[in-house]
Amino acid sequence: MTDKTKQRLPLTKIYLGSPWFNPAQRARVEAAKAALDANDTVAIVHFPFDWEYHDEVVTEAQMTRLWIDATYQNDLSAMATADCGVFLYDLDDEDPGCAFEIGYLRALHKPVVLVPLAQDLSDKKLNLMLAAGTTTFVASIDALREFNFNHMPSEPDHPFPVF
Ligand code: ADE
Repeated sequence: MTDKTKQRLPLTKIYLGSPWFNPAQRARVEAAKAALDANDTVAIVHFPFDWEYHDEVVTEAQMTRLWIDATYQNDLSAMATADCGVFLYDLDDEDPGCAFEIGYLRALHKPVVLVPLAQDLSDKKLNLMLAAGTTTFVASIDALREFNFNHMPSEPDHPFPVF
């Protein structure tokens, strides 16, 4: 007999939020995609930079109003259809785009899993809105391999002082 209370199934759609503006951030996204690919509870990973308007990768100078609006809407549509957000939160270079997305997901009552990242985490502080808005703090990108996205267990104990 199967135990449907504990079974792990690939059912969950993840909105993977991260800045993607420098080589270290890009490498983290690749590592997180690999970890989520290996997770047996994950069905779909949506990374917004893979789904910009018409898949056009444009420079800042080429960002027309149409491109901006359609890309923004793609991000909102993906958050509306996701089960939760996973954020690679760069505490060395905080990204207002990620903070916006976290707030948007929380306004939709969707869980937010946050992986705090920095060269040195020991001296970092966390804004109260992120400390309270995060439903689960996860210690590392690697830990995303095992996390149970079917049930989204909470871990609100934030590992930093709050301001
Ligand atoms: N900046 C460039 N592309 C973006 C996207 N898809 N989402 C948020 N910010 C972006």
